[in-house]
Amino acid sequence: MKSLNTILEQTREVFLHAQDAETLEKARVAHLGRKSELTELLRSLKDMTPEEKREIGPQIQHVKHELEVLFEHQKQALKEKAYDWEKERVDVTLPGKRQNIGHLHPITQVIREIEDIFISLGFDVADGPEIDTEFYTFDALNFPKNHPARDMQDAYWLNEKNEDGDPILPRTHTSSAQVRYMEQNIPPFRIVIPGKIFRHEPTDASHEHTFHQFEALVVGKDVHVGNFKYIAEEFFSTYFDKEINIRLRPSFFPFTEPSFEFDISCTVCLGKGCSVCKKTGWIEVGGAGMVNQNVFVSAGYERNTYQGFAWGFGIERLAMMKYKIDDIRLFHSGDLRFIRQF
Ligand code: PHE
Repeated sequence: MKSLNTILEQTREVFLHAQDAETLEKARVAHLGRKSELTELLRSLKDMTPEEKREIGPQIQHVKHELEVLFEHQKQALKEKAYDWEKERVDVTLPGKRQNIGHLHPITQVIREIEDIFISLGFDVADGPEIDTEFYTFDALNFPKNHPARDMQDAYWLNEKNEDGDPILPRTHTSSAQVRYMEQNIPPFRIVIPGKIFRHEPTDASHEHTFHQFEALVVGKDVHVGNFKYIAEEFFSTYFDKEINIRLRPSFFPFTEPSFEFDISCTVCLGKGCSVCKKTGWIEVGGAGMVNQNVFVSAGYERNTYQGFAWGFGIERLAMMKYKIDDIRLFHSGDLRFIRQF
């Protein structure tokens, strides 16, 4: 049998010359495995005398350990050699991947801005349901039954009725929240009610079937049209950050008397005429008027006890003028290229 030293030297040579992991593993099996000379030597210990065992045993173990350490070492070295550093190279000059961060819809942003202005004028923000009853949407607001005034706002009606059996509909205006609020509150108060509304009408660049309104309602003992004009001028000048011209035209709403159609100068074309203002130079932002006493009576107030003004403005219109958007349909188009600009 070869001397231990020869085994050590030869095996070391083989391990050090292995060029890849597979060759090295084969060498391990051959030189340290169950059928290797070294293992054979270890096995032969049992036939030796105790003195021989004591002398040779530790020597064999020592050689075996040395070779095992060398093997691990070599294995690690080959692994590092085989590593594809090129593949792992990082080009730090490449542009990064942009993380998309969500943000508020432009309409939500405008609603918050409007609320802030009104809060600074001492108003409270109120709310009402998007699906409301025929009573709050029309009857309580002095729309006579079967009167053509109901056609002023073509409604989508729902087949369902509410738990009291009342017809319900997606509200056609935020005015439906007026009597709801007044039933719960005693004047004086100043409130704003922003919200989504629905009209059964064909769409074009300035009309949508689903849009937003902003109701203002101020009620007290001696509220008058002058208060309304002051608040309106204050609001529009703050919102557009410039002097805005206001125009009131006589109009009709069942729930106000007198009633006005409310225009502001077109801020897209500055009055020259464009598609937003339909070439008139004015934008109709909504209706307004002094609260009809019949509405106070619907709310449970005594007739001729209070005076108040109300208005309802289109929020999309305000956003369109501020950001120079020429098509109202963009807001609900779901086109992220549009939304991301805000
Ligand atoms: N509710 C009316 C509309 O939607 C607007 C309005 C509100 C008019 C309040 C007068 C007073 O057209």
